[in-house]
Amino acid sequence: MNTLTQQWRPEFPGLAESVYLNTCSLGQLSRRGAAAVNRFLDLWMRHGASAWYELWLGELADTRARFARLINAQPHEVAILPSVGVALSVIASSLDYRQRPDVIVTEMDFPTIPYQWMARNREGAQVRFLPTPDRVQVPLAAFAEAITGRTALVATTHVFFTSGWVQDIAAISRLAHEQGALALIDGYQAAGQIPVDVKAADVDVYISGGLKWLLGGPGIVLMYVKEALIEQLRPTTTGWFAAKDMFKFNPDRFEMAEDARRFEPGTPAMAAVYAANAGMGIIEEIGVDAVHARTQALAADLHARLRRAGLEPRLPDDPARHAGITALPVADPPAVVKALKAQKIIIDYRPGLLRLSPYFYNTEEENQILVDALLAALDQ
Ligand SMILES: Cc1ncc(COP(=O)(O)O)c(C=O)c1O
Repeated sequence: MNTLTQQWRPEFPGLAESVYLNTCSLGQLSRRGAAAVNRFLDLWMRHGASAWYELWLGELADTRARFARLINAQPHEVAILPSVGVALSVIASSLDYRQRPDVIVTEMDFPTIPYQWMARNREGAQVRFLPTPDRVQVPLAAFAEAITGRTALVATTHVFFTSGWVQDIAAISRLAHEQGALALIDGYQAAGQIPVDVKAADVDVYISGGLKWLLGGPGIVLMYVKEALIEQLRPTTTGWFAAKDMFKFNPDRFEMAEDARRFEPGTPAMAAVYAANAGMGIIEEIGVDAVHARTQALAADLHARLRRAGLEPRLPDDPARHAGITALPVADPPAVVKALKAQKIIIDYRPGLLRLSPYFYNTEEENQILVDALLAALDQ
């Protein structure tokens, strides 16, 4: 077995329960993650509210620092939020659509991105969808053509949730900036499994979270906002955590925090914070480059096995632009997912396709078990 996989598999007891090839939906819970949540419960029980000042504020600082290190940002550029939807909503509430109504999204983005701005139609926001020619990617030329002096924001994805296509976020940011627009990137399917450098890409906002490749579970999302931009954005979706002197509890004076805390509306879910810190700790300990190399190797292995079996995954031509989500179009995806689940093989589906997503903790043998089960299920 691959050394990295062999070393880390025991850290994820759930892998013994099933053939789990579904990290693009939910990353596996580690022993450390479980221990961290139990530690949180114990602290809550023993210390009550005093845990906030003595321990939990430190844990939040840890979260910001860990995410910052992962994406080459600074801790004060990181806000902690409960979901991508809330993070997008806070940013959407910071923009003025009167002079620049257009928000550019793509047909391949997770729906929560366009929904934010469709819901802001009455404020003047106009969502412009870029089409995909092949349901894998969206050409850069489409961005170049659509972004104009009327564009407030390009809001799109780093790794597409159905095709695994890795967008060139540096080029997208450059195209946005050339027209005076901002670039917001949803990196929920990227951070952890592929290297991310927000400074090199010069993106304005970058969002990721615990759920998937950061192995931190649900309930926590991290949002980077470029230092130079923080002061310019004044969200109207807000709360007391956004106040500069939040512990002065001044109801009639609202001065916003100078760091990314100004994008945090309220009290974070501390259990999720503990789980996320454990998950990010594992990614950091292994190193994103090593996680990436192993995940790419497993994806390539899976593609080869699928093709040998006569199955045709929908993939980009250039493997370097593909991250660990493999789309396999089939006639009845829910039926296949159900048939495999009965054999304790866990994958998932989106309309028209299966999503297969091995991570560094999976093995080539598991890929083969999946392919054999797929063949049998598709034969019926
Ligand atoms: C790319 C992407 N963005 C966002 C989400 C969901 O975000 P939220 O935290 O709002 O549920 C998902 C999947 O759950 C996703 O794959």
